Amino acid sequence: MKRPLLLSTALALLATAALAQDEIKIGEFASLTGGSASFGQSSHKGTALAIEEINAAGGVLGKKLKLIAEDDQSQAGQPATIVRKLISQDKVVAVLGEVASSKSLEAAPICQQNKIPMISPASTNPKVTEVGDYVFRICFIDPFQGTVMAKFAQSKGWKKVAVLTDVKQDYSVGLAEFFVKGFTATGGEIVKDQKYSTGDKDFKAQLTSIKAAKPDAIFVPGYYGEVSLIGKQAKLLGIKVPLLGGDGWVGDSLLKVAGNSLDGSFFSCHFSADDKAEAVQNFVKKYKAKYNGETPDDMAALGYDSAVILAEAIKKAGTTDGEKLRDALAATKAHPGITGSITLDEKRNATKPAVILGIGGGGFQFVQTVAP
Ligand code: PHE
Repeated sequence: MKRPLLLSTALALLATAALAQDEIKIGEFASLTGGSASFGQSSHKGTALAIEEINAAGGVLGKKLKLIAEDDQSQAGQPATIVRKLISQDKVVAVLGEVASSKSLEAAPICQQNKIPMISPASTNPKVTEVGDYVFRICFIDPFQGTVMAKFAQSKGWKKVAVLTDVKQDYSVGLAEFFVKGFTATGGEIVKDQKYSTGDKDFKAQLTSIKAAKPDAIFVPGYYGEVSLIGKQAKLLGIKVPLLGGDGWVGDSLLKVAGNSLDGSFFSCHFSADDKAEAVQNFVKKYKAKYNGETPDDMAALGYDSAVILAEAIKKAGTTDGEKLRDALAATKAHPGITGSITLDEKRNATKPAVILGIGGGGFQFVQTVAP
């Protein structure tokens, strides 16, 4: 017998509603395509792996987590649109993202206004969590990262450094400022200060003027896309001094374009897949198994940690209510993450060691871990 159309539609709707109630929706915004695709793809893969594991272990509060991931195409303006949609249409209970600080800064006020907790896995600019008490991060911040590299430069005996900043990125501007502060506080000298903008392809004018200032090293707190071209052009111009950078250099893509032009250069970051710690090696194994043998980078590990910390907070809160979830997140203490032990301070930032890597032999080599 054929059911009346209306009845079957109603039944279908009821079934969907029941299913929806069995899920907890988590929003994610990431640069899956565009200029910083390597950031978003990695963080998304780490996040997705965590969600899959949590669900395989029974989910949270008796429900499965449903990750709704959106691509912001590495474009300004997109994070705001996406996060509005995730909150008002999809009704997510929390938001994970972004890697790049400027993107996180765009979305944070929207999460704050809607009382939806947001966790950035990797944005290091201090302003991100200053937006409000619903905005968290699980990584260290740039005043620390900048100081780490300033001290490292000094330990190498480099007294005169030039700086080349991406003025379009809050991350780059902030990190340059904190590096300069740390470097000059202990007697270092900044002999040249040059600028560029995200998307630029020709850095020869800036590099030529930097070369004339005869620095011992050049600090380039940018993202891998531009940094790889800067490395190549510096070599072409006969610049022999090392380049120094921060976590924005991370990812396989850097050396694909830079080739060996960055040999002898150094940068700070969050994680090394060579770390012998059992938790790290376990994670590397699981990640490789899921993603065709690919080795996880910093953003993958941070993406993973951010999703697990969120799931733990939902469990602790016993509810997905925004305010209670915010309080549970704020109470995160000594969480055993892949990227180290994570305790959130009163400003919703994590205090964690940084890793310094050197470039050579077609890859990255572990140099040292620097404790806060
Ligand atoms: N810290 C960078 C930012 O705030 C992003 C980043 C983190 C890039 C980790 C690579 C690895 O914009």
